[in-house]
Amino acid sequence: MSMKDTITVITQTLKARLEQLENKRDILKAPELKQLYNAMKQLEPDERPAYGKAINELRVELEQLVVNHEDQLSTALIEPIDVTAPFDCNVPVEKRPRLLTVEHGSRHPLTTEREIVASIFNRMGYIVHDSRELDDDYHMFGALNFPEGHPARDDYDTFMTDEGLIAPAHTSTMQNRILRWYKPPISAVVIGRCFRNEDLDPRHEHTLNQVEGVYVDKKVNAGHLLATLQSFLEAYYKTEIEFRTQPAYFPFTEPSFEFALSCPFCHKKGCVICGQEGWIELIGCGMIHPNVLQEGGIDPREYTGFAWGFGLDRLVMMKHAIEDVRYFQSGKLAFLKQFK
Ligand code: DAH
Repeated sequence: MSMKDTITVITQTLKARLEQLENKRDILKAPELKQLYNAMKQLEPDERPAYGKAINELRVELEQLVVNHEDQLSTALIEPIDVTAPFDCNVPVEKRPRLLTVEHGSRHPLTTEREIVASIFNRMGYIVHDSRELDDDYHMFGALNFPEGHPARDDYDTFMTDEGLIAPAHTSTMQNRILRWYKPPISAVVIGRCFRNEDLDPRHEHTLNQVEGVYVDKKVNAGHLLATLQSFLEAYYKTEIEFRTQPAYFPFTEPSFEFALSCPFCHKKGCVICGQEGWIELIGCGMIHPNVLQEGGIDPREYTGFAWGFGLDRLVMMKHAIEDVRYFQSGKLAFLKQFK
């Protein structure tokens, strides 16, 4: 059978199965899809683009069918409400008309996962703090070694109030406070909402959740940083992972790295979650810049430290194979109800 025929047959099989599935989203994890992606390796290089395009189209089509189904569900759940209708509190609950929801609510996935992340870091000896949702230029930039007018400030499209206060674009806005509140040895994690004036798409949202880590002591080195991140990710995804680093630039760390982990789902084979890459870039990190330590009241000749920041949303999207970050704040019942 030609590749094209195989795709056609699998497309029909998957569509038929979709009809039967209770949780339509499971179709996106069908083994046939994975097999199709894996089969790419056996093709001649010149055949791959057309083949890759065909299976991507199939995946997009399936996603669209799932989303259509979810949309229909959430519309069906909303019944018109007549706010003027008398509500008789003497009618037993089971006899009252059902209005908006048919069941009680569920926890938001980010709330659940935030607690899991916090408890892993707790067990690793980190104290956990909330971030702030309004801050000033000094904490967002100045204390983090962004000089006035430095182009690196442009990487953060911040929302500002008329008074010049900032809705922080990263949890690093708490670093200076962490350094000042605690004396070394310091091990602290900050989790909270951050805000960016982004163009919105499936990977970008105006409100995101970050997890920031700060560790300071004598003789701390980058090996400690990398091992810490690896241990955390292995505990979170409950599987072994490998990592690789690339040089990066942040004004508040030197050296700075981009930390990528091997995909915890396919272990580098390539799958839908890692976009067939086998690796996922997740974390900005590095050794805390001496100027930042100094500004936090810590002598950089005596102490060194590391810091990192990653998006909680991204971590959770991978864990639950959520393809669009905007679902988190969409208030779509069909989405939220999966996380009972
Ligand atoms: N604040 C950075 C961002 O949002 C992420 C980050 C990078 C945090 C390096 C850190 C760090 O603490 O050391 O883009």
